[in-house]
This record gives sequence, structure tokens and C-alpha cells, in this order.
Amino acid sequence: MTSPHYIAFEGAEACGKSTQAALLATRMDAVLTRETGGTAVGARLRAILHDNSVTNLTPRAEALMTAADRAQHLAEVVGPALDGGRNVVSDRSLYSTLAYQGYGRELDVEELTIINDWAINARWPETVIFLDTPDALIAERLQERDLDRFEAAGEAFHRRVIEGFRTMASSNTERWITVDGRGAIDDVEATIVAALTERGVL
Ligand code: TMP
Repeated sequence: MTSPHYIAFEGAEACGKSTQAALLATRMDAVLTRETGGTAVGARLRAILHDNSVTNLTPRAEALMTAADRAQHLAEVVGPALDGGRNVVSDRSLYSTLAYQGYGRELDVEELTIINDWAINARWPETVIFLDTPDALIAERLQERDLDRFEAAGEAFHRRVIEGFRTMASSNTERWITVDGRGAIDDVEATIVAALTERGVL
């Protein structure tokens, strides 16, 4: 039996990663989960994090709440699934904290890496699929939504976040796969499947 694989999807809001994560989880018969909000405790943290009426949350508190969500998620969902021989596909991972709270909120990325490595007991995703979707398309998709606290954070913040993802993806191409998020759902899925097949994950 091959060992179970832990895959995370990353990218901006409305980039299509939730759709692709679900498709891949079905294909791999994997446990489909997400950060934040993949556990009952995490759902409560997520409600605070996304709440527009929360106007005074400091970046450090925000980062620690995402790390707390993640510690619970690893202990309750990801770790047991992998230990039980199941593949795991997660919609976001600690890399979202590095992108949003690190690059976006301008906290120290090295410090956030240490805090999150501790939170997850050093169990990192083995493969990260980054759906890189042009800013204009994201903006168009977000226009159709009621914006939450992150989505309403402003253009400069989101530009730093996406540049952060691009920097991380290009500096660790063994772990990261960058996929153009612009195509039709089927085409993006086919690209992801081809890349994972080439790496021997599928
Ligand atoms: P999503 O689940 O719809 O992708 O939204 C999650 C939002 O939470 C998104 O705006 C990014 C943000 N987020 C962080 O800022 N840090 C994190 O660590 C995670 C997991 C999400």
C-alpha cells in the first residue's frame, strides 16, 4: 500500500479552489476538509475571523486564531485520517497564514512559520496546489458576494497576499504546483490531475 498523501489547495478568495478540492478528494477517495472551520471549535473561530463587526482584532491575535484552528484541525481531522491510511485534501493550510497574516498583514513570515510548525506538530502538506487566478477575475467574482472581513480588506492587502503565494510557490517547486485558475472547471481539473500524475501522487 502506498502511504497516504496530504494535499492542500491555496489561492485567493473565489479562485475556484473549493470546487477543485472537492473534485480531487472524490477522485482520490480522500477526506475533504478545510481551514479555517474544519472542526466544531474551528467553526467558532472562523465565525469571529470572518465577522465584519469585529473591527479591532490585531494581526497577531488573528494569526494565533488561525493557528489555533489549525492545531485543532490537525489533531482532530488531518492526523487521524493520515494515521488511518486515508488521503487528505484540505481547502487551505498554514500557507494561508503565511500569505494573509504574513505577506498581507505584514507580520514576520519566519515567526509565523515557527508558530504554525508547532501548531501542526510539524505535519505539513506534502503537496500544495496553488490556483493562480488573475486579480480582475477574482474582483469580478467577489462583486457577486456579500464581502466578509477578509474579502473587504482592500486591494493592496490582496495584492500582497497573491504576491506572497507566488513567492512561496516559486521558491519551493518540489512541494508547490501552480495552476492557472482561469479555465473551465473541467480544464483546471485536468491540469491538476496531469500534474499530480506526473509527480506520482495519482
Ligand atoms: P475561504 O475559506 O472562503 O477561502 O476564506 C477563508 C478566508 O480566511 C480567506 O479570506 C483567507 C482567510 N484566512 C487567513 O487569513 N488565514 C488563514 O490561515 C486561513 C486558513 C484563512
